[in-house]
Amino acid sequence: MRVFVVLAICLAISHGKVTPDYFPQCKRSDPEINKCILDGVEAMRENLRAGIPEVSIPPLEPFVVPTLKLDRTAPNLRLKAVVKNMRALGGGDFRIEKLKLNLNNKYAAEVKLLLPRLAVTADYDVRGSRLLVLDIDGKGKLRGNFTGISVIAKGAAKLIEKDGVQYLQADKVVTRVKIGHGQVAFDDTERPLAASSAANFFNASPNVVLDILNPLIDESSAAILKAFLNKVLAKIPLKEVLLEDDPAPAA
Ligand SMILES: *[C@@H]1O[C@H](CO)[C@@H](O)[C@H](O)[C@H]1NC(C)=O
Repeated sequence: MRVFVVLAICLAISHGKVTPDYFPQCKRSDPEINKCILDGVEAMRENLRAGIPEVSIPPLEPFVVPTLKLDRTAPNLRLKAVVKNMRALGGGDFRIEKLKLNLNNKYAAEVKLLLPRLAVTADYDVRGSRLLVLDIDGKGKLRGNFTGISVIAKGAAKLIEKDGVQYLQADKVVTRVKIGHGQVAFDDTERPLAASSAANFFNASPNVVLDILNPLIDESSAAILKAFLNKVLAKIPLKEVLLEDDPAPAA
């Protein structure tokens, strides 16, 4: 009987925890908390690749963005586009180059990631748009290979409470993205010739076009990252990953 009660309590406790056991748990006061997090993320890389449905973490391989609406005017650019079914392969090979946390009365972080390679496919529908002097309207499927991608992301989160449990929600996220090299192809169903000259133009000088698109890339990746983080953070009770200190022993 006593064994049964202990078992029942253990079960109740383990059911209370929503994050899988391989999730990192780091102590708030750990002077090496960055290393704790980096080691923890590394240890769950394969799970991140496949996705962790228990806590709504979508797979990184492929990473899917169902819909992205772009509407932006910038120097040399007027872009109105709807991008659908974006799938990227390569996200699971991310390397974290730098992580800086600030947990002093706030939750702020800066992280620098490197992605050696991303292969992207997406459906696009572009209207009334121009890049430099090129009319870039069209509709179809794009494929692109991008290499040497660095992402600096800075974000702040706030504490929220749901049913008596504390979670974080991202509040502000900004990113700076640099893409080393890119190559694209378009299978355009409306204006195949214009699309193939746009692809040739891009492929001849990807850095020129990527520089023009940069504000848009920064803005879109920040929006994608914020949505991703909030989906994940909403399912991870803070106390399961960030452990408070043991109570100080009585003096
Ligand atoms: C991307 O790379 C793959 C594999 O190397 C290649 O087959 C494909 O044609 C490339 N796509 C583009 C748009 O260059």
